[in-house]
Amino acid sequence: MIIDTSVFKLNGSADLELHSIGNQGNTVVTIDNFLEDPLAFKEFLRMIPIQRSEEWFPGNQLRIHYYFPELSAFMDGIAKLYDVDPGEKKFYINQYSGNQEVLRRANFPHVDPGITLAFNLYLNQEEDGESGTAFYRHKKTGFEFRPQFDAKYRYKHFDINSDQDPMDRVQYEPIVETDDFERYHLVEQKFNRLSIYEGHLFHNLFVEKDRWKDTTRDTFAMFC
Ligand SMILES: [Fe+2]
Repeated sequence: MIIDTSVFKLNGSADLELHSIGNQGNTVVTIDNFLEDPLAFKEFLRMIPIQRSEEWFPGNQLRIHYYFPELSAFMDGIAKLYDVDPGEKKFYINQYSGNQEVLRRANFPHVDPGITLAFNLYLNQEEDGESGTAFYRHKKTGFEFRPQFDAKYRYKHFDINSDQDPMDRVQYEPIVETDDFERYHLVEQKFNRLSIYEGHLFHNLFVEKDRWKDTTRDTFAMFC
């Protein structure tokens, strides 16, 4: 298949905003009107067969092994802004549907291990309730990110703490507040908005329960 690479073109007049969220000065970047032709991009993604995630993602997910030159160059620029050395770049199609059950563990905040920066492009023109990317604070420690510890036992402090089996299949219902975590920020999704955050921030895909049954919630994720 020959790819029409014009569908990856960035919009030169996109609106970049820096946000400092939470108590720990976490930088989140949002860029509205990110792609020049988001509908063509979405059409391109639709041609690719996609399947159920076997990892944590609550829905369908596919890693694309295509090196998106325009997006890669952009990611390098953002890495400079965060003052990080970009790691290996990874690209994923993510598709959430309220009709699929998920493993209960997916409802809890997570970090993206091994990922320095996460980029999420929201591709829905439709809205279905409050939806976006939620950020969480660990109540006991006040941490909004999971630090790197040499002594791994410390990671257990942030594990899922529940009487219910985390591997049960349930309706997706991301937490807002539990004894352990509280949501302190939501980047609301918007068509053609890109959100950027550090992979070690506690976060999750946020939707309201029982939504997204008539249409899927589509995002394109990039990591480095
Ligand atoms: Fe994540």
